[in-house]
Amino acid sequence: MKTLTYATISFLTFIGMMFSNTACGQTEQPETAFDEALIDQHLEAEVTFTERYRPQFHYTPRINWMNDPNGLVYYEGRYHMFHQYNPFGNRWGYMSWYHAVSDDLVHWEHKPVAIPYGKEEEEAIFSGGAIVDHNNTSGFGDGSRVPIIATYTSHYTREDGSTWQAQSLAYSIDGGETFTKYEGNPVLEFNDPDFRDPNVMWDIQREQWVMVVALPRQYKVQFYASDNLIDWEFLSDFGPAGATGGIWECPDLFPLALDGDPNNIKWVLHVDINPGAIAGGSGSQYFIGDWNGTEFIPDESISGGEIIWADYGTDYYAAISWNNIPEDDGRRLWIGWMNNWNYANDIPTYPWRSAQSIPRSLHLETIEGNIRVTQRPVEELQVLRDTHVGIQNLEISEGDHSLAGEGISGKAYEIIVELEPGDSETAGLRLRAGDGEETLVGYDTVNGTVFVDRTHSGEDDFHENFGQRNDAPARLADGKVKLHIFVDWSSVEVFVNDGENVITNRIFPAPESQDIILYSEGGTANLVSLDFWPLKSIWN
Ligand code: FRU
Repeated sequence: MKTLTYATISFLTFIGMMFSNTACGQTEQPETAFDEALIDQHLEAEVTFTERYRPQFHYTPRINWMNDPNGLVYYEGRYHMFHQYNPFGNRWGYMSWYHAVSDDLVHWEHKPVAIPYGKEEEEAIFSGGAIVDHNNTSGFGDGSRVPIIATYTSHYTREDGSTWQAQSLAYSIDGGETFTKYEGNPVLEFNDPDFRDPNVMWDIQREQWVMVVALPRQYKVQFYASDNLIDWEFLSDFGPAGATGGIWECPDLFPLALDGDPNNIKWVLHVDINPGAIAGGSGSQYFIGDWNGTEFIPDESISGGEIIWADYGTDYYAAISWNNIPEDDGRRLWIGWMNNWNYANDIPTYPWRSAQSIPRSLHLETIEGNIRVTQRPVEELQVLRDTHVGIQNLEISEGDHSLAGEGISGKAYEIIVELEPGDSETAGLRLRAGDGEETLVGYDTVNGTVFVDRTHSGEDDFHENFGQRNDAPARLADGKVKLHIFVDWSSVEVFVNDGENVITNRIFPAPESQDIILYSEGGTANLVSLDFWPLKSIWN
């Protein structure tokens, strides 16, 4: 999809508007053209949050199309999330920044659209970041509330249909409730029609703002510095490097303490790629190195010249991290778009499309001599846990063993499994299993991988390659692998060995497919322990 230009996509969106689609036997709402009066129709829309495939503990907008998380910022005790949004339909188009807030990273309140598509100058509001301007360096503050500044890409369409991209600002002096576009926009232009996704951080050591922004078709990011967020000075380029089989988008640069040691800080540069990722289509890679105030210097001794993937599934893209998390919390938190440009516009959900991943904390750890970013589900999610069921030391002989009799089944749940693959070839769990449907999460002894196989997971006729298996390297420690699994009405996220690797995939099983079945093939495995919690919905 994203090998097409945005102008082509807009055209396809327009064609889509003319023919209404059917999904799950329902007629999709007819997509409309720009209509200022309808920008906040989502707040009144009648939705139940029990629609077929509606995620129960993953964030979704009430209605309409969503893509990348944008402007993740913590401000006065609340987590703000903005995201790419089409106020007028269930496919990509009329990009605007939607706004949601949370006290706990789990429950979200939907707010009015924060930065709408600009009809006058045909300005789509593409992805970017947000920061809190404590010292009012921008001068946008009026002395009352500390300003929040959004840095975004203006994607302009000229009269002849051609497009160009530049970096712009919008500011809020009412705690994120409303935003005003800076009258001097854009603040950063470059003679390239693809130049986007500005993400800004405060460089504490150099006491200046640093922007990282992508040159997608050159497989590069650029760094710029500023004292006031308005005037930007070019610092350096990074790339091409790592995976370059597709365009580069949505960069993020942040420090992490190696093995928790605050005196050993390394820098992580995260850059997404589409297509050409490990699981096909869109995906997430990162580099580890140093930031010297001017340049990002990758540490080749860490990567060994290999590409490092942040997620081995098909559906984790455009992740960025929260800015301004308080020091006494100290976590680096991020969230990603659970979709893939291969089929993003066609997944069978209505009246909304796309979900965000669960929020994850990021850590830098030495694992068998290799330094890697590990990811863990945020602990806040534990408030959703319902009654616990546990199993210990169960032999999994060759074949299937349903857990329904133990009260272990469902549509939205969390499972932590410690598995000893023993002499099996593969062993694991059949999830969301039902009439001819199952999503496999298991360990493959032959390849030394954990995999998610959605070949028979449910509805998949909207894209020819949706049915596939994805593998992530996984080591055994004392002969055991640990799987931390989150299953929702239309997704599965697997954290391998406390987040050493992650697989994030969408699935579209029938609501009736609720069985959880232990299985082993080619030998006997041992279930060391299994902990199961149904998860409550975040929407009631
Ligand atoms: C990534 C992306 C960004 C862009 C936005 C437009 O998914 O292509 O590069 O800013 O989506 O919606």
